[in-house]
Amino acid sequence: MTPDEASGLIVQPESVDEVPVVEVSHVSKRFGNHQALDDVSVSVYEGEVVAVLGPSGSGKSTLVRCIDQLESIDGGSMRLDGELLGFEERGGHLRPLSDAGRKRQQRRMSMVFQQFNLFPHWTVLRNVTEALVRVHGRTATDARDRATVLLERVGLAEKADAYPRHLSGGQQQRVAIVRSVAVDPRILLFDEPTSALDPELVDEVLLTMKDLAATGRTMIVVTHEMEFARDVADRCVFMADGKLIEDRPAEDFFDDPRSTRLQAFLDRSGRKNSGSA
Ligand SMILES: Nc1ncnc2c1ncn2[C@@H]1O[C@H](COP(=O)(O)OP(=O)(O)OP(=O)(O)O)[C@@H](O)[C@H]1O
Ligand SMILES: [Mg+2]
Repeated sequence: MTPDEASGLIVQPESVDEVPVVEVSHVSKRFGNHQALDDVSVSVYEGEVVAVLGPSGSGKSTLVRCIDQLESIDGGSMRLDGELLGFEERGGHLRPLSDAGRKRQQRRMSMVFQQFNLFPHWTVLRNVTEALVRVHGRTATDARDRATVLLERVGLAEKADAYPRHLSGGQQQRVAIVRSVAVDPRILLFDEPTSALDPELVDEVLLTMKDLAATGRTMIVVTHEMEFARDVADRCVFMADGKLIEDRPAEDFFDDPRSTRLQAFLDRSGRKNSGSA
């Protein structure tokens, strides 16, 4: 047991026999002289929603980008369903995976970014079906059927033939979420999916994410939306200066923060929220 575990700052779920969907173990990452991730460990189990919170520059995006193989790591290891990410073990040695191997692993995860990154010259339907057909080998009919069902579920079926520029930011982000879900990833990674939206469009996207969580999707959500985190996440993780400071069930995280840094962060966020209300 680490000192943080002993002090109750890190509380892992009880299902310790289960293999986590994602396991991050003592990961470090530097950009030049800057330690963006410093000995970070966190596990996410099947069906769990884990919210990642923390001040700007604390390493939240870097963490999910490392998991998604968009950044390499300098130390530690990560596993997806027990399989080493980014490396392979051969003859007792670790070797970096080939590009093809890394892409194969990436296909089992989906990331939703702050900027929705839809292709502007493709219709909504094609934005959703393209990867299904080209990367995941579905037939065009199968992909279209699947996309239609998912678009219906988020109330956007009638926009299937529209182009992204004809959609609101909230609608575009819901399409981006549908695109990510359509490929049936083992884990959905969200990096501040509502930060680029006008305030009145935030709720519709959060509602879509809440629905996803309710269907048992495994999710890591980097967010500044405290209410969403409290309401939807099973666990909340607090990062500061590249370190994972606290990992607790959502209720305890907000009602009984242990570390002074999390207490100060929540106080500041509360003041900001009530100040802007
Ligand atoms: N590609 C990069 N090159 C150099 N430094 C980087 C790079 N990406 C991130 N960093 C630095 O690493 C640190 C962590 O960045 P990161 O984007 O993970 O923070 P964050 O917690 O997501 O912040 P925010 O809430 O502002 O999105 C920051 O100091 C950032 O400047
Ligand atoms: Mg970020």
